[in-house]
Amino acid sequence: MLSALARPAGAALRRSFSTSAQNNAKVAVLGASGGIGQPLSLLLKNSPLVSRLTLYDIAHTPGVAADLSHIETRASVKGYLGPEQLPDCLKGCDLVVIPAGVPRKPGMTRDDLFNTNATIVANLTAACAQNCPEAMICVIANPVNSTIPITSEVFKKHGVYNPNKIFGVTTLDVVRANAFVAELKGLDPARVNVPVIGGHAGKTIIPLISQCTPKVEFPQDQLTTLTGRIQEAGTEVVKAKAGAGSATLSMAYAGARFVFSLLDAINGKEGVVECSFVKSQETDCSYFSTPLLLGLLPRSLSCHMRSLTTLLVTTQEEA
Ligand SMILES: NC(=O)c1ccc[n+]([C@@H]2O[C@H](COP(=O)([O-])OP(=O)(O)OC[C@H]3O[C@@H](n4cnc5c(N)ncnc54)[C@H](O)[C@@H]3O)[C@@H](O)[C@H]2O)c1
Repeated sequence: MLSALARPAGAALRRSFSTSAQNNAKVAVLGASGGIGQPLSLLLKNSPLVSRLTLYDIAHTPGVAADLSHIETRASVKGYLGPEQLPDCLKGCDLVVIPAGVPRKPGMTRDDLFNTNATIVANLTAACAQNCPEAMICVIANPVNSTIPITSEVFKKHGVYNPNKIFGVTTLDVVRANAFVAELKGLDPARVNVPVIGGHAGKTIIPLISQCTPKVEFPQDQLTTLTGRIQEAGTEVVKAKAGAGSATLSMAYAGARFVFSLLDAINGKEGVVECSFVKSQETDCSYFSTPLLLGLLPRSLSCHMRSLTTLLVTTQEEA
């Protein structure tokens, strides 16, 4: 049974960072030609918060970049192809999103992706550490439970590790939980917020329905089914796509939502909270997803992460 870990709505760990990117973010997408990378790049191109969008992949980026560059929004767009062009893609970036890597096929777990994606993420994040060590790094590539520790070790190896700036993107778990709860209760999904903590694979995905705003209640059997559906929602999509990959459109939406939250926080917006899988001292686990209050680091503050409230003990329903 899970005994601790939830916070009341609006209370979260503080995640603060310093940056010079206000209203002018330079964002790179690594894996930009893929199922997630293309719609994610489209959403980023559509944002007034982004002034430069650099797109990297080992295939097709010239075409994706040419296509996106015709959209009448502010961000400049440039494509970079192959490892020799990666440094130029990353130089000057404030934020890097990484959806590069192979997706699941039916019957696979996220851990089955480890061998391939671990190497891809290690190489890409090494390039980030060398070319944009101050950038915020948002890793989408699975298994997130492993690719975030890998990213952290790579940054440590290069002597530029800042745990405040390395994020595993678990937003899709929150997005799904919000959608499913809203559907069951007949609520407007935009007004539903279910914190999802833990990790990003099967039973490590822990939706805290009892902490949902607005408050919702379900009979135990429905709660068990709902929790299971949120935990296995990725597999639901993998099965439905029948070999054509995993969630791409909803992931692009969730990835963009997370990036925009970081950019909002950079731009001084207060009270921005997102769940993300990060280096954590909240539990015995070295990495854990909890709600994070995103914000700029006050000049006088050298400490980066502080608890706003004491931990709450959750009820048995999250067990
Ligand atoms: N965090 C989440 O919630 C979540 C959700 C869905 C999918 N994912 C993960 O996102 C990843 C991408 O999924 P997808 O559906 O976009 O896959 P995809 O195969 O459609 O696209 C992956 C892209 O990565 C590129 N790529 C491969 N190796 C590369 C390298 N070394 N450098 C740069 N680019 C490289 C490919 O060329 C391709 O364009 C997968 O690992 C998937 O499991 C995560």
